Amino acid sequence: MTGPSGAIITLNPTETLFPNEPQIIADAVNQAVASVEKGRKDLGKSMRDAHPKAFGCVRGIFTTDPNRPSFSKIGVFAPDTSYRSWVRFSAANPVPQSDTKPDLMGMAIKLTGVPGNKLIDNKNTAQTQDFLNVHFPVFNVANLQEFTGFLKNPLLYLGTHPRAAILATRAFGKKRTDPAETQYWSMAAYAPGSQAVKYTVIPCSAPQTPNPSQKTDNYLTENLIAHLNSRGACYHFMVQVQKDPQSTPVEDPSIEWQQQDSPFVSMATTTPQDKNPLATKYFSDYGFGDVGLSSSPFM
Ligand code: HEM
Repeated sequence: MTGPSGAIITLNPTETLFPNEPQIIADAVNQAVASVEKGRKDLGKSMRDAHPKAFGCVRGIFTTDPNRPSFSKIGVFAPDTSYRSWVRFSAANPVPQSDTKPDLMGMAIKLTGVPGNKLIDNKNTAQTQDFLNVHFPVFNVANLQEFTGFLKNPLLYLGTHPRAAILATRAFGKKRTDPAETQYWSMAAYAPGSQAVKYTVIPCSAPQTPNPSQKTDNYLTENLIAHLNSRGACYHFMVQVQKDPQSTPVEDPSIEWQQQDSPFVSMATTTPQDKNPLATKYFSDYGFGDVGLSSSPFM
C-alpha cells in the first residue's frame, strides 16, 4: 500500500517505509563494515564504528519494577526477575578523542540470560537484550534520507539545514560532568510488542559532581571511577508509550515525545556493581564480535 509522499505502509499503522529504505540501510551497513575492516587492517584490531571510546564498562543487575503496569509485562519485562547485565558508558565520536572535545555520551545496557530468538541472523541464539541510549533526547535528522545527506558532508549539511544544526549544537554542547549521573534516552522508538515505545534511563539520585574547572583528556572516566567508588550508581529504566502519530511519531526521531503527551513509566532498576570500570577494557573495546562485547538493539 502507498502512503504519504510515496512511502509504503508496513507492519504497524504508524510505521512507514520509503521505497529506497532497504537500499539506504544496506549502504549504511556496508559503509560501517568497511570502516571497521579498515580499522582492523590499520590497527591490527577492530573497534566499534561508533562509540569506540568507553569511559568504562561495568557489570550490574537489572531488576524489573514490581509496580510496572500490567500492559508492559512483555518480553524481558514479563517476569518479576533480575538479569545480570553489562553497562558500557561511551563517547560517540567515530575516532576516540579527548573528553574536552564536544561529543555525545552513550550508555549501553546488555541484559544476559534472556531466552528467545533474536532478529540478527548470525546472532539469533544470543541470550541477550541490549538497550542503547545517549544523553540527548532526539536525533538531529528526521529519517534515513536526511541521514544519508548528513553523512555525505556533515558540515555542508548542517550549514544548509538550520534545524539539524541547532539540534546538533544543543546535543554536542550539552554539559558533560560525570557519565554516571546523567539521563540517557533511546532517541528512536522501538516496538517490544504491538506498542511503540521510547526508553529513558534516569539516575536514582540528583547530580553531585561539580563541573571540573580543569578538564583532562579522560576526565569523564576519572569522574566515573570516583562516582562508582564513592556512592555506587543506580538508574530507573523507564518507557514512554506512543499515544498518537502526530505528537509521538515513530518515523521522526528528531521530535521529542513530550511528557505531557506520554509520561515516563518505571519498568526496572539498573544498578552497576563494579568499582573499576576499566578492568574490562579489552573485552569492552576490542575483543568484540565472537568473544567480546558489542551492542545492537536487535539482540
Ligand atoms: C542511523 C543511526 C545509527 C547508526 C548508523 C548507529 C551505528 C552504531 C554502530 C555501528 C555502533 C557500534 C556497535 C557495536 O559494534 O557495538 C553503535 C554503537 C552505539 N550506538 Fe548507535 N547508531 C545509530 C543510532 C543510535 C541511536 C538512536 C542511539 C541511541 C540513542 C545509539 C546509541 C549507541 C550507543 C550507546 C552505542 C555504543 C554501544 C556500546 O557501548 O557497546 N545509536 N552505533
